[in-house]
Amino acid sequence: MKNKIKNNSRENLISSDLVIKNYLLAFKLVSEFKTKTTSIEKIHRSIIFLYLANLIIARDCNFSSSLIKKYYISLKSIFKADIIKFNDQFFSSKIFNNQHPFSQMGYVIDISHQFYLSNIISDKNSSTKFSDSSGYRKMRGAFYTPYKIASLIVSKTLNELSHNKIKHPKILDMGCGTGVFLSAAAHQLRERNYSEDSILYEMLHGSDVEDLSNIIAKVILQTEMGLLIDNFSNLKSIKTEDIIFGNLNHNLFQAKNNSSLFNAVIMNPPYDRLKADGGTKSEKKLVEKKINFIKNLNIFKNSSSGSIDLYRLFIDKGISLLKPSGIIGAIVPMTFMADKSAAAIRKKLINTNAISEIIIFPEKAKIFEKVTQACSIFIANLKGGNETITITEMLNSSNVLRKIKVPLSVIASTSPNYSPIPLIKKTEIHLLDKLNKFPRIGEIHGITNRRGELDLTLDKKYLNGFDSRLLKGISIKFFSTNKIFKVDYKKFIKAKAGTSRVDDIYSERIAGQQISNIATHQRLKFALVPKDYILGNSLNYLKVDKKLFLKNSFSIYSLLGFLNSNILNWRFKLTSSNNHVNNYELDDLPIPINAPKNKIEALNKVVYKICKGNHIQNKKLIDNMNAIVQDCYKITKNNFSKT
Ligand SMILES: C[S@@+](CC[C@H](N)C(=O)[O-])C[C@H]1O[C@@H](n2cnc3c(N)ncnc32)[C@H](O)[C@@H]1O
Repeated sequence: MKNKIKNNSRENLISSDLVIKNYLLAFKLVSEFKTKTTSIEKIHRSIIFLYLANLIIARDCNFSSSLIKKYYISLKSIFKADIIKFNDQFFSSKIFNNQHPFSQMGYVIDISHQFYLSNIISDKNSSTKFSDSSGYRKMRGAFYTPYKIASLIVSKTLNELSHNKIKHPKILDMGCGTGVFLSAAAHQLRERNYSEDSILYEMLHGSDVEDLSNIIAKVILQTEMGLLIDNFSNLKSIKTEDIIFGNLNHNLFQAKNNSSLFNAVIMNPPYDRLKADGGTKSEKKLVEKKINFIKNLNIFKNSSSGSIDLYRLFIDKGISLLKPSGIIGAIVPMTFMADKSAAAIRKKLINTNAISEIIIFPEKAKIFEKVTQACSIFIANLKGGNETITITEMLNSSNVLRKIKVPLSVIASTSPNYSPIPLIKKTEIHLLDKLNKFPRIGEIHGITNRRGELDLTLDKKYLNGFDSRLLKGISIKFFSTNKIFKVDYKKFIKAKAGTSRVDDIYSERIAGQQISNIATHQRLKFALVPKDYILGNSLNYLKVDKKLFLKNSFSIYSLLGFLNSNILNWRFKLTSSNNHVNNYELDDLPIPINAPKNKIEALNKVVYKICKGNHIQNKKLIDNMNAIVQDCYKITKNNFSKT
């Protein structure tokens, strides 16, 4: 029974508030059948089963109370679910029938199940209870993908598979939830004339730790593929298991040989951190066990250092389950684009020329239900061979702001250390390429770049002194310092005696705020700090060795001019993905350290004037400084005005 028109149950969206209102009504009604031993989970499962029966009815446009009873019984026996026994009167009450059309029903089920996951708390004595909010959904990262986004990722993944000439792909959705990716893949494979049997029993595979979402995925998929209820099966290719940790002693989902590997992984993995703080003693122990487990596995070597994000573990695991020319199509947090935490995995994909496309959704696009998070889709073809990455910046969930192709060589040379992917305009590529040719701060012998020496938390004991010699983040403005704080100067120096930190205190330095809001125009703001001042760790600082002066008069004033220039502010913003200014980001900034002496001297002069004469507001002087800086980079005004 092929019904091409009715194959997408998530096609039409509906207000989630209305869905939740209906769900709570259903909850009340089903609760009337509650016995002493009925848990909230059992009530929820019963509602979901009724919703699924409704989905089939809505598809077949064939309602009768005896049919809904039949569907209910079939589904119950297929999935051996623990659900309430309803009586005939209940089945004829019509309360669940035809509430939503088929084209909405899948979406309704997704929202209802997420609502349940967000609002239950487990309680050993009374099984499960509703609460206003619980960490359960967050813990599992159960934020389901809108169909349109899943479908976009699937279509790009299938195109890459065609590009690799894969005729009969085996596709895995890791953390499949209620199966929106699997549905989108099924629809598109059907359009490409694959049979329902191949799609369901050979091509599509899924796994999720959460049992009920897998059941939902299986029923929706089979309903959408037009199967008759008698033909529904408990699809073995969709498994309930922990794809990352297995049972911690034996990893179930491990590819054993080449034939068990996949051609493509599609996914919206959970985004949470794996952290041992918070939670009960036993939860903490479990997290520690998980961390040890992954740290000992080679497949997680690019995702298990520092603080561990689940999404990075999913990418590493996905790569290990793919054939050598496999494809990954995923939606992940924006941090994947530029944060140091994701550097190892990003570098691996960039250095092997695997990433072909990136689509960026800003926070305001709000693509997930009731979540504000900037995300990016990436498509990677492990076969490599991509010379450019197509980067699309979205204005919102459906409109494109800009789309450009950036040469991978430019991306790789922007920061060989952590390979951030710059958010760049077409006219800026040439400029970035030009800047990339200059030595970076981290490579220049004679420039020190560090975080302030006084930890405002750990070194609190020094803050009750009487010396006005401490600068914190808020002390530093663009070219000037303002607020100075009290510190016990002598005691602090004594404590740090013998370390290079004390030498730094005795030097004149450039300091800049460690926190700088991503939305502000001028993100890099530095000022000169005289010697004998202590800097809090809310500041970064740079020091210039006097030896550099000998060659071309390069001094602390020259570096301050470059750091506060509009060119480096533009360059910094290209790869910054959060509100911090990190030392490793400063290390990557290019400096024309070998610029001609006359240009550096002109720069020193104008920067000196800005600092000493309190001319910060003097636009003419700042313009003059920017012009000299551009000249040192051999960039024309015309080049830069295109940014
Ligand atoms: C962001 S949701 C995405 C669900 C679905 N793929 C979608 O896009 O709507 C992440 C899913 O991963 C599942 N998950 C979390 N940790 C998992 C693990 N260790 N193994 C398997 N699945 C996991 C969660 O239960 C959740 O359904």
